[in-house]
Amino acid sequence: MRTDELTILGIESSCDETALSVVRGTAGNPPEILSQVLFSQTDEHAPYGGVVPEIAARSHAQRMPSLLTEVMQKANLNFSDLSAVASTFAPGLIGGVIVGLMTAKGICVAANKPLVAVNHLEGHALSPKITHHVPFPYLLLLASGGHCQILIVKQVGDYQYLGGTIDDAAGEAFDKVAKILNITQGYSSGGAAVEDYARHGNAYRFALPRPLNKTQNPDFSFSGLKTAVMRIIENGDIKTKTDIHDLCASFQYAVTDCIMNRMQIAINIFKDITKQSSAPMVIAGGVAANTHIRSALQNLASDNNMTFLAPPMRYCTDNGVMIAYAGLERFARGWVSPLNIKPLARLAL
Ligand code: KG4
Ligand code: ZN
Repeated sequence: MRTDELTILGIESSCDETALSVVRGTAGNPPEILSQVLFSQTDEHAPYGGVVPEIAARSHAQRMPSLLTEVMQKANLNFSDLSAVASTFAPGLIGGVIVGLMTAKGICVAANKPLVAVNHLEGHALSPKITHHVPFPYLLLLASGGHCQILIVKQVGDYQYLGGTIDDAAGEAFDKVAKILNITQGYSSGGAAVEDYARHGNAYRFALPRPLNKTQNPDFSFSGLKTAVMRIIENGDIKTKTDIHDLCASFQYAVTDCIMNRMQIAINIFKDITKQSSAPMVIAGGVAANTHIRSALQNLASDNNMTFLAPPMRYCTDNGVMIAYAGLERFARGWVSPLNIKPLARLAL
């Protein structure tokens, strides 16, 4: 082990995944992942068609101790071997955030270790660097169930917000449409269901709006799209399986179109600010699983002379590794947190 090598435990519990990881490495380099564990609460929330905060908090509290034991055992380490403990402290569903942060604080008190509180969004923003040597600056689209924003990632701790959703997140829109169409059963998420149904559908069948596509800020709005889908259903236009396939395809096409339009504006701003004619463009968050959106983004990147990168799916969605890795980068810079740091439901990056 090199003397500048750090060993960090990361804890993530801000939504519906209880996830922990131990990573080891040096700043600026993809870390060695000594262990990672993840419990997804998807099945517990499935009957309600969305994440129920109270159920999420209880589930995190129930599973955290055994997952913590497991992640340390798999890494073959004791708490005394850690350099620091990192945990998401914001933003997220507050009950879950409290469970993770208090677990981290407890370890820090008991084992006399520094705490590194991590903004969940920073975890996502740095996630491509878990597996790749991605040079700064890069353009990031973070599109998940809870977040939808475009950032310039300039450095660790230096992020510029270019635009984001003014209502629903992209993944949330997929989830709501899947719920309205009652097609979620048997799928890992609403987005996965819509994508699968869209595969056999006609994307030109239903004309759906492209909210905000004329504005000069790369912001998003998806709630109007969802309302348009509801109106089509209320009109009685959805009677057969083919109708559902067509509606899913039309919806996915509209979302993709909005994302491409917004990203082109973001690329122009990115190039203007960074003076980089070619740089990486990265997508993170659960929506990165969508192959239609990914390939459209890939084409957009190449049209703009940018390289395209999507981290492996397990690091695109919520995970413990991204929190451990962001914690490593912060700790390497001496950025530790006081033990009285407050968990927060809302916080910009
Ligand atoms: O990052 P993530 O696991 O959790 C957070 O929301 O933080 O993202 C989950 C979101 C859900 O809204 C889900 O519907 C969406 O990602 N998603 C997809 C696909 N797979 C998951 N959206 C579109 N197409 C998919 N294939
Ligand atoms: Zn997330």
